[in-house]
Amino acid sequence: MSTIAIVGTQWGDEGKGKIVDILSEKADYIVRFQGGNNAGHTVVIDGTKYILHLLPSGILHDEKKCVLGNGMVIDLEGLLNEIEFIKKIGMSIEGRIFVSERAHLILPYHKELDAASEKLKGNGSIGTTLKGIGPAYRDKAGRIGIRIADLRDEETFKEKLKWNIREKELILKHVYNYDMSFDFDEVYSHTMRVYEKISPFVADTVSLLNQAIDTGKKVLFEGAQATLLDIDVGTYPYVTSSNSSALGITTGTGISPKKIEKIYGIAKAYTTRVGGGPFPTELKDNVGELLRARGHEYGSTTGRPRRCGWLDLFALKFSKMVNDLDGLIITKLDVLDAFDEIKVCVGYELNGEIIDYFPSTAKELSEVKPVYETLPGWKSKTTHIKRFEDLPKETQNFLKFIEDYLEVEIPVVSTGPQRDETIPRHEIW
Ligand code: GDP
Ligand code: IMO
Ligand code: MG
Repeated sequence: MSTIAIVGTQWGDEGKGKIVDILSEKADYIVRFQGGNNAGHTVVIDGTKYILHLLPSGILHDEKKCVLGNGMVIDLEGLLNEIEFIKKIGMSIEGRIFVSERAHLILPYHKELDAASEKLKGNGSIGTTLKGIGPAYRDKAGRIGIRIADLRDEETFKEKLKWNIREKELILKHVYNYDMSFDFDEVYSHTMRVYEKISPFVADTVSLLNQAIDTGKKVLFEGAQATLLDIDVGTYPYVTSSNSSALGITTGTGISPKKIEKIYGIAKAYTTRVGGGPFPTELKDNVGELLRARGHEYGSTTGRPRRCGWLDLFALKFSKMVNDLDGLIITKLDVLDAFDEIKVCVGYELNGEIIDYFPSTAKELSEVKPVYETLPGWKSKTTHIKRFEDLPKETQNFLKFIEDYLEVEIPVVSTGPQRDETIPRHEIW
C-alpha cells in the first residue's frame, strides 16, 4: 500500500491525532489537505500530551516528512509557534516540513470578520473556532485571497493586502457596523517578518507529493474536522468551510483520485459535536454528562465543552458511503466501560415515518427522532486489553454490531489516549 487516508466520520475530535501518530510509523510523508488551526489533534506520548493545530500528527516521529497541502488556510504565526515548539522539545525539523506555496493565508481581518459574522447571526451562529477559517476560504473562492507564493514578491503582496484591507474595512463598517481599521504597515511588516522564518519550508508540494507517490513512497493523508462538517456533504450550514471528508484530499493536494488507494474512517464509540447545529442523538441529561466527564470532552482548540450523545450509526452509514471506507477505526471504547447499557441509533424517524436517507437540511435533521437499539454494557475496564479476543463478550458484540450494520471492518480499536492503548485487528498498511 502506498497511499492511505484517515478521515473523521462524525463531527470531529474522533482521535485522528492519536491514530495518525501510530500509522506514521510506516509512512514517509504525512499530509494535511484542508482546514487550518481550527483543528486540534492530540497525541499522547509517554504521558505527555501534544496538541497539533497545523502540523500533521506525524511530526512527533523524527525522520518523517510532513506536508501542509494547498487546500489549507494558514495562520503563519500559528505555524511558526508550532515549529518553534517542535524545536523546543528537541525534535529535528531539518528537511521535514513542506508548506504549500499555493496555500492561502489567514490574516488579521479574517479573524475579525469571523467574530463579526458570528455576532450578527446571534442565536443562529455556527459556533466557529473564531480562527478566521470561513472568511479565508471565502476570499479563496472569491478569488481575492492571498497565497503564500504571493509573499515572495513584495509588490504583489503589498497590492493585494492594500486592496483586501480596504475591502474588509468597508465590509466591517457597512455590513457589521464595526468601525475597525487595520494598519497596513503593521500587518505588512509583521506578516513579512514571520514569513522570513517560514520561507525555508515553502515548497511546490503538488509536484513533491506526486513525485513521492510515483517513486513508491508511503503517503498518509490526515483529515481535519470530519465528514459531517464537510462544506458539501456535511450538515450545512453548521459545517466548516472546506471539504473535510475524503472528498477534499485530491483538490487539497493536487493528487489525482486515481492515486488514493485506501480510505479509513475514524469514529468514537459514541458521538460528540462542538459548536452549533443539529445532533440527533445528543443527550442533555446525566448520561450525556457522564460521557463528557469520562471522555474529557472539552475542545482541544477552544476548550469549549463538547456536546455528547450515543453512537449514531445511521449518520455513520452516510459517512461510510460518501468516503467509501475501507475500514472504520473505533476510538474511545473505554469511555463506555462504565455503562449498564449502551444505545446505538440505527434509524431516523421524521414526522412519524422511518426515513431511508440522511437529511440534507439542518431543519430536517433537527426534527428527526433517533431509533435506538439497546445493547448490554460490559462494566469492566478495557484499557489494557491487547487483543480483540480478550475483550469482554459484550464489547466484542458491540463492535460486531457496528461492523454488521455498516458492512465495514473495524481494523483497529482504541481504548485509551496512549499509543499502546490500541488493539490492532487487521493490517492497515
Ligand atoms: P482529533 O481532533 O480527531 O485528533 O481528536 P482530539 O485530539 O481533538 O480529541 C480526542 C481526545 O481523545 C484527545 O484528548 C485524545 O488524547 C483522546 N483519545 C484518543 N483516543 C482515545 C481513546 O481511545 N480513549 C480515550 N479515553 N481517549 C482517547
Ligand atoms: P478536529 O480536526 C470539532 C467546528 C466548529 C464549528 C464549525 C465551524 O480537531 O476534529 P470553523 O472554525 O471551522 O469555521 O468552525 O466546525 N469545528 C470542529 N469541531 N473538531 C474540529 O477539528 C473542528 N474544527 C471546526 O466548532 O461548529
Ligand atoms: Mg480535535
